[in-house]
Amino acid sequence: MKTIFSGIQPSGTLTLGNYLGAMKQFVTLQDDHQCYFCIVDEHAITVPQDRLKLRNNIRSLAALYLAAGIDPHKSTLFIQSEVSAHTQLGWILQSQSYIGELERMTQFKEKSDGKAAVSAALFTYPSLMAADILLYQTDIVPVGEDQTQHLELTRDVAQRFNNRYNDIFTIPEIKIPKVGARIMSLQEPTKKMSKSDENEKGFISMLDEPKKIEKKIKSAVTDSEGIVAFDKEKKPGISNLLTIYSSCTGESIKALEKKYTGVGYGQFKQDVANAVIQLLEPIQQRYHQLIDSDELDLILDQGAEKASFTANKMLQKAKKAMGLGRVRKK
Ligand code: TYM
Repeated sequence: MKTIFSGIQPSGTLTLGNYLGAMKQFVTLQDDHQCYFCIVDEHAITVPQDRLKLRNNIRSLAALYLAAGIDPHKSTLFIQSEVSAHTQLGWILQSQSYIGELERMTQFKEKSDGKAAVSAALFTYPSLMAADILLYQTDIVPVGEDQTQHLELTRDVAQRFNNRYNDIFTIPEIKIPKVGARIMSLQEPTKKMSKSDENEKGFISMLDEPKKIEKKIKSAVTDSEGIVAFDKEKKPGISNLLTIYSSCTGESIKALEKKYTGVGYGQFKQDVANAVIQLLEPIQQRYHQLIDSDELDLILDQGAEKASFTANKMLQKAKKAMGLGRVRKK
């Protein structure tokens, strides 16, 4: 059985983009793969975080994973900072990552652009992400399109380590959904939908109430053509709404274009809103049942224990391959 690893940062409430690009794939993959899903809190601290907000976001993300359908009997769900092997291998892999390749990372360039105080951790973030993945002999990493560059770096670093020391790391493949790999902002449809967007109208949070979802979709930026058709370049707003609709319902974009021939944007937007609400309502209900439950803590305890067991074995292998520590004389 192939192994899957993926992670999400607890840096704000999850958006519909995170769900359609990543989490939705996780739920189907867990049926026939060995899966590890991680709340990557150590990645979140690469930019300043308020401690109480971070605490809440970590728990909230764990509850959302489960509410979205992650089954703890099938998958291992855990918090990154509760498995210390991640930062330990992260450090080791920093020693195998080059400044030049880290400088090329678009995410680093975007997040550091124009800022005076940029943490060193933001710069070395991809080495920690490589560690997350490589600790579990991961075959496949399901992510949204924006993680492609980080995955390529992970593969390069793993290959480099294997060539230099010993062939211990599995080289992972990236898996990006056909529809929904890059959900765009509702207000600026040429920009990715992001939980750190200052304009709240640009993203749909997984916990937004139906009325709010409807309002945000109705005020989504489109064009004045009045034709529901997919054209990313010329009609980025409508194309984004078509992608969201298709990804929520499973209907193909082609079928939707046909269905909405001669129908105005008002009706189309209303239907997109309904599709999103229908998808999110049951997730939100389960979320509210889980968020304060003991069950959630138990699942995370067991997840951390299971993940640590596998991760520590790999960490020992990596240390041994590099000559770290010592070998007992007798
Ligand atoms: P993060 O927390 O930014 O996003 C989590 C997942 O959501 C996807 N995503 C999107 N997909 C479609 N449209 C969007 N607008 C959109 N925004 C985000 C992301 O591609 C991602 O799959 N570096 C990672 C976290 C990470 C990780 C890992 C992922 C740390 N270690 C190991 C995989 C494996 C990140 O910042 O994701």
